Amino acid sequence: MLYKIPKSFINELLINTNIVELISSKINIIKKGKNYYSICPFHNEKTPSFSISFEKQFYYCFGCHVHGNAIDFLINYEKINFIESIKELSFFSGMKIPKKNIYFKKYFKEENLYNVLNKISLTYQKNIYKEKNKIAIKYLQKRGINKKSIKIFSIGYSNNIKIISKNYIKKNKKFINNLIKSGILYNEKNNIKNRFTERIMFPIKNLKGNINGFGARTILNKIPKYLNSPETKIFKKTENLYGLFEVYKYNKKIKRLLIVEGYFDVITLFQNKIKYAISILGTSINIYIIKKLFNICNTLIYCYDGDNAGKIASWKTLEISLPYINDEKILKFIFLPKGEDPDSIIKKEGIKKFKNRIKNAIPMSTLLFKKLLKKNDLSNPEKKTKFSRIAISMIEKIPGKIIKFFLKKILGNKLGILEINELNPNKIKNKFKISHKKKNKKILI
Ligand code: UTP
Ligand code: MN
Repeated sequence: MLYKIPKSFINELLINTNIVELISSKINIIKKGKNYYSICPFHNEKTPSFSISFEKQFYYCFGCHVHGNAIDFLINYEKINFIESIKELSFFSGMKIPKKNIYFKKYFKEENLYNVLNKISLTYQKNIYKEKNKIAIKYLQKRGINKKSIKIFSIGYSNNIKIISKNYIKKNKKFINNLIKSGILYNEKNNIKNRFTERIMFPIKNLKGNINGFGARTILNKIPKYLNSPETKIFKKTENLYGLFEVYKYNKKIKRLLIVEGYFDVITLFQNKIKYAISILGTSINIYIIKKLFNICNTLIYCYDGDNAGKIASWKTLEISLPYINDEKILKFIFLPKGEDPDSIIKKEGIKKFKNRIKNAIPMSTLLFKKLLKKNDLSNPEKKTKFSRIAISMIEKIPGKIIKFFLKKILGNKLGILEINELNPNKIKNKFKISHKKKNKKILI
């Protein structure tokens, strides 16, 4: 059935799309000053006059004057129609197209949430510098966070007011309602309460710099240590990433991303001029994030905390990344000493040594065989069989033909055989079929 896609959904889609990310997934672009440039895909030329503005989320060609937003780009580049463009963009940005017009109102309301969160974030940021809150700035100083980082990452502080006064609620009904919807306030036994009190507030921004939610660290050793915004229309703990906006803002071209666990890890790395770190929000990695990150750049380096959970997370990351490793993608892992995270180890041994850790990060292929061999020694044919079965099933998930070829070679070497394809039952069957047919043909001739 034909129906109109709500305009509010299209607005939301554009808010959630980064045109730079979109276009760079199709053509090669380079950053010059504020904007990105490339050879225009819409007319013949030798020097790049096609420009993309991250701030305006708009493209413009100084040569042939084509221009537009992300939707227009797909229509013209992929030669598809408007609806198809919306569909592709929704897939790219991980949004679902609403089925009915009842969503219309809902999406309008979501736009409001961004305004509310941006407003409250400014209040948190001002709080940091108030005399009565000097405990906050002292805490950040103690953790080695400088003023520049506080500004860049829009770090703030939530004060100690737990219950919102009835008087204030009466006067600001609409604002209060929106604060509840965005997870800043909550209703408990008819009292409107602040979710975040006496916590350092880390805004989690989308690619346009709008705030989706907060990560909040106690400075008084309260439990939990970190409290996140609850799931809202615009905040999903399993999808949002910390620091990605800043990575886009401070890198001409994103060559690689370093994925860490904590907010402080991202900021300490940034202060030490490693401006390509992001963090997942206290959840485990998932396919949505992996796809998103590989859309941004080809090299992902994971550096989880130096504990058992970190080791398990690395292996899980490797396993679920396999279907996305084409021959351009590189996946690496850093394993930190026990009890350390990037923030603590940099403070302990300095940034130079950490840079070495990045340089010496373990490639996916090394980790794959190391881990499988640890579990299965190859002392008899049964063990070799088990090892091969697991290894082949993992390698077969990789779409990259060349990397797959080399991984199979390594596997063959480990097993002491030359041609690993001989172990693939399908191939054996096919070979048999082919030779059988050939024989038949010969007989017929
Ligand atoms: P960590 O406990 O390793 O935090 O949790 P951290 O970054 O080293 O914290 P600091 O250095 O003591 O301040 C890693 C991440 O897990 C999530 C947060 O996102 C945190 O950054 N987490 C942790 C929570 O969501 N809740 C918690 O109570 C603890
Ligand atoms: Mn940590």
